[in-house]
Amino acid sequence: MTRRLWDKGEGHASPVADRLTAFTVGDDPQTDMAWAAEDVLGSIAWVGAQERAGLLEAEDADTLREGLRTIAQEIAGGRFVIPAELEDVHSAVEVLLTERLGPVAGKLHTGRSRNDQVLTDLRLWMRARVSEGRAAHLDLVSDLLGFARSHPGRLTGYTHLQRAMPSSYALWAAGYAGALLDATALYDAAAALTDRCPLGTAAGYGSTLPMGTAAGRASIARDLGFGSAEQPVTAAQLTRGLVESAVLGAFAASAHLVGRLAWDVSLYSTSEFALLTLDDALTTGSSIMPQKRNPDVAELLRGQAHRVRAAQREIEDLTLLPGGYHRDLQHTKAPLLRGVRVGLETLHVASLMVRGVHPRPQPQDPELYATAEAFARARASGQPFREVYREVGREIKQGRFTPGAPGGDAVPDAEIDLLQARWEALQPG
Ligand code: ARG
Repeated sequence: MTRRLWDKGEGHASPVADRLTAFTVGDDPQTDMAWAAEDVLGSIAWVGAQERAGLLEAEDADTLREGLRTIAQEIAGGRFVIPAELEDVHSAVEVLLTERLGPVAGKLHTGRSRNDQVLTDLRLWMRARVSEGRAAHLDLVSDLLGFARSHPGRLTGYTHLQRAMPSSYALWAAGYAGALLDATALYDAAAALTDRCPLGTAAGYGSTLPMGTAAGRASIARDLGFGSAEQPVTAAQLTRGLVESAVLGAFAASAHLVGRLAWDVSLYSTSEFALLTLDDALTTGSSIMPQKRNPDVAELLRGQAHRVRAAQREIEDLTLLPGGYHRDLQHTKAPLLRGVRVGLETLHVASLMVRGVHPRPQPQDPELYATAEAFARARASGQPFREVYREVGREIKQGRFTPGAPGGDAVPDAEIDLLQARWEALQPG
């Protein structure tokens, strides 16, 4: 006998039916474990909403809350599973409550649908992951600023992978810190999208009960700590995929910058560039060449942005659907979990990488100072820049250039202070 919630007794078990059920259930018993705690939180809020609406007596409401709190403890203690035949977390929780509390558990689902339940679970889960990601993103900025402050030494600035200008290790790291600070705005945008509560929108069209009205939904939003309720009801299902994409977009931006940093690290740590050394923990040995240490951590970090963007793209493509709920939406959960996991890991490992790379100061090529010299001569003599530019160029070609005006590699203390101030202003209030 099946235990599925929505079974009304008309089904006939058969191998074909079982096979197709397994197909519709898909990965839900695994993916939904991630937001089981959120599912219970949403249900506790739903009990409160029903009580306010006069649909649940205080005694029943207390019984349900008690049962839900027990399940919450089981989830926290790793003692909760979603049996495959129960399809998803929503059903697993309701069936467990029914087994334990009897028919009163059948009152829990009044006025809601798994469609708004899953949206709520995901919204709560994403809200927490965005704040975790934003914190890890800002921790990376802090590690980069720490590197910048402790490594003022000169570093060649490259354009086209050719030695171009004098610069410093501090400016190299501070550049990444600055770009990451800019990208923090993407986490804030994603946080704003996760701050709207879909619970009460039911299957996507609200309900005839008080919890389905705008006022009812606003109270539920407050109970769950959201800034506001999703408005109107028909917007809720349209946000599935949209919010996920914004969340992964923020992680992808972090991973993109980490990827460029990792590219630099892998390049600069080669014996050809020899600008950085890596802690042993950041490298692996070659199984064939005894002399080699390979920069595997940097190389793996390099590819993470592709992986996050692939997950984001998968979700965007899957959700290009007509309005309302469609079962295809279920497939957005696995890439969301994967993308967020990769994004968070990228940030944590990038911080470890920054702490494990060390400058290897190089003698600076005098030609790097050619531009600064041309500027200095133009400024001192009043000659057009183009003339001194040619003059310096000739001297270099003839091998008789000696720069009189080094510059451009000063420690940008004031700039690092400005970045530090921006970092502080972005700390959660
Ligand atoms: N598991 C589904 C999902 O993640 C939600 C529940 C199914 N809803 C439905 N109407 N069949 O989208």
